[in-house]
Amino acid sequence: MTAVDKVNQAYPATEGDPAARDAFMAILERRRSTRMFKETPVPRELLERLIRAATLLPTSCNRQLWHFVVVTEPALKVRVSDFSDAQQSYLYDAPALIAVFYDTSLETRNPCRTAEVTVGMTLGALLLAAEAHGLGAIYLGGIRRPSGIAKALGVPSYLRSFGLVCVGYRDDDPPSPNRRPVGDVLSFNEFKLAHERYHADIRPHLWKLSQIADFRDKLLWYKGVHIDGKTLHVDSDARFSPKFQYMIGRIGMMLAAYSEPRVLDVLSFNGDVVLQLLNACRGGVGALYAYDLTPGIARYIDERFRQLAPPGKVVGLVNAAAETVSIPLPDGHVQVISCYERLEHFEDPRPLLREMRRVLAPGGRVLLVVSNRFYPHLYRFKRMRQKNYSLGRNWNRGPERKYEPGQIRRLLEETGFRVTAVAGLQPAHLKGVAFVAAVFRRMGRHAVADRLADWCAQRYVTEGQGKYFSSSLAYELVKN
Ligand SMILES: Cc1cc2nc3c(=O)[nH]c(=O)nc-3n(C[C@H](O)[C@H](O)[C@H](O)COP(=O)(O)O)c2cc1C
Repeated sequence: MTAVDKVNQAYPATEGDPAARDAFMAILERRRSTRMFKETPVPRELLERLIRAATLLPTSCNRQLWHFVVVTEPALKVRVSDFSDAQQSYLYDAPALIAVFYDTSLETRNPCRTAEVTVGMTLGALLLAAEAHGLGAIYLGGIRRPSGIAKALGVPSYLRSFGLVCVGYRDDDPPSPNRRPVGDVLSFNEFKLAHERYHADIRPHLWKLSQIADFRDKLLWYKGVHIDGKTLHVDSDARFSPKFQYMIGRIGMMLAAYSEPRVLDVLSFNGDVVLQLLNACRGGVGALYAYDLTPGIARYIDERFRQLAPPGKVVGLVNAAAETVSIPLPDGHVQVISCYERLEHFEDPRPLLREMRRVLAPGGRVLLVVSNRFYPHLYRFKRMRQKNYSLGRNWNRGPERKYEPGQIRRLLEETGFRVTAVAGLQPAHLKGVAFVAAVFRRMGRHAVADRLADWCAQRYVTEGQGKYFSSSLAYELVKN
């Protein structure tokens, strides 16, 4: 069944010309932001046609105060691209950049922000027209200094810069990003929200489970951006951080003890840990369960792993109750559980721990990583003081608390776990030495830097009491 058939089935339509309707819906369904382009130049007439399409959309009072500058000249493209946020290399690769400007001087006082709406509509038409003409395109609002672009292109100051569109023949085939179901974003006659809104305050005691669920769901939609066929993640560097690597290494060792184990990752979010678990299960996996709180996240997981794992091996699980933690698995079902910095969401994490214990098979093992309250999380402290922490520009992890090792021990005892090993991940003193090593490396003193790095690697994680002064602690658990 094609995407358009699915739309027709879910939202039957009787009016209009069926062929035109389906063709239009097909363009909408097919359009993706393209981030990889072929070198082939786009003919000038085609670019003109795209701009024609863009200017057919409504403007307030039909003012049409926009201007488009198409940049194809390589040196100028580099100059313009340099104003974008770092990492957006596709700007340099696209054969044509279209800089979009609008004269906002007549419209800035309008409370409905008509200039912005007008430009938004224009851009929508531009992207859809590109798709209809077999081109790929992406709009980039991530511009560090829009005025720099205007200056580079000699655009007068009364025209406001509204970012760039990259256009070219696409060289990628990104999977379709999830869209929130219509039921989540639509109400008739009276405003109704499918979920309770998440809280604007970071302290976990203010959050209900449904709000945590909603927040995690939104965060995933927000950040689950596909780039180069991969997914750009919330904490993209977390995957490569030493503590993440440590956790994956340990859990790999746990998994090696089983053939075809059933594994559960708790609150999987975008599935980064699940992916590593999948890699660690070299000998085969019985089943890999990615449990989280919303159907949206489960859908995202299913989509992400459809091509990465044999069918049915990675299963997205949704919490089975509205206001309590309930993992939809039978008692004693899984041999290994991972839970990477997730207890922090909960004021009282015991229900989650109890559920983990319930689904754990006798003799099964758990790896739990928890942020440490004894560690000076200075940057977080700063953000936590900002009231709009979780809704601000830096959407991060949602409600969060830190636990001291003693608290964790008590909680684990109460919920029927026994700790078999503890490791401090990224202890403060080793971080200090690693910093010094990096300074030496920058100075070109590689031999010294290497010696210091080796020293860190040897002492990493388990060194004496020092491990408790560590950003996170990893606990290995069995059932008591
Ligand atoms: C206002 C706006 C600004 C955007 N800015 C950027 C950007 O700076 N960099 C980028 O890679 N994508 C950017 N995008 C593209 C979105 O990430 C993309 O549309 C979204 O992930 C949905 O994917 P899709 O376009 O393939 O459906 C922007 C989109 C919009 C509407």
